[in-house]
Amino acid sequence: MKSKTAAPPSPAPALDPAAIPQHVAIIMDGNGRWAKARGLPRLAGHKAGTENLRRVIEACVEFGVKVLTIYAFSTENWGRPEDEVSGLMNLFDDVFDRELAELNRQGARLVHIGRLDGVRPNMVEKIRKGEAATRDNQRLTLCVAFNYGGRDEIVHAIQRILADGIAPEDVTDELVSRYMYTADLPDPDLIIRTSGELRTSNFLIWQAAYAEWVFPEVYWPDFGREQLLEALQEYGRRERRFGGVPGAASG
Ligand code: IPE
Ligand code: IPE
Ligand code: MG
Repeated sequence: MKSKTAAPPSPAPALDPAAIPQHVAIIMDGNGRWAKARGLPRLAGHKAGTENLRRVIEACVEFGVKVLTIYAFSTENWGRPEDEVSGLMNLFDDVFDRELAELNRQGARLVHIGRLDGVRPNMVEKIRKGEAATRDNQRLTLCVAFNYGGRDEIVHAIQRILADGIAPEDVTDELVSRYMYTADLPDPDLIIRTSGELRTSNFLIWQAAYAEWVFPEVYWPDFGREQLLEALQEYGRRERRFGGVPGAASG
């Protein structure tokens, strides 16, 4: 099950099993700057940013993370130049074809969050088929946020709550969570944003209420098992309080 990466992985890390986040979410940022630093076109950065993904998924399985959410394309990313958007769509297409069998090998279940209207039909078909083909896998849930925006998700939830005729007094925190795209997933415990940018960019804004954040100073294509391990170790040093007092809360 080990990857075919060049460097041998470091020995089993000293991670406290009680401090492993159940749900890790990643804003995979910095592909463009990674490419620019090498004098390459932005799309070369996006391509490189698909090649480390397999190692990150494998490492999540190795470390016992149960849910990995990756921010692949935001509702705002449509505003990029047309050739970058179409290049990204072609790349996602290829990655789907290439990685589906690998997800099955890893015991990973694919789920999509975001809006599928506006996405080209062959991609929608691939996403649906990928979800169906991996439905019974239990080791890891790989949640792909594609054409995803946190505000869009909240607007969509409100529309459905109203359409379902829910009475105002029945609208609770739990009910709203059930109307999110992530209804079946736990909230993220740890959110990682690579590349040094310090903002949410519309990612899981409802679900991140009490997430811990880390901001590794590497561009996404350079993020791998070691960087994930460091983020998990940093998470293990945090004290989550959920509004309580030090030492009282448990994560
Ligand atoms: C993240 O990398 C990938 C997507 C948003 C699809 P960027 O393309 O945002 O890279 P930078 O931030 O410009 O370096
Ligand atoms: C967030 O990154 C979206 C993804 C990583 C898919 P962006 O690069 O789009 O975010 P901003 O524009 O820097 O806030
Ligand atoms: Mg960016």
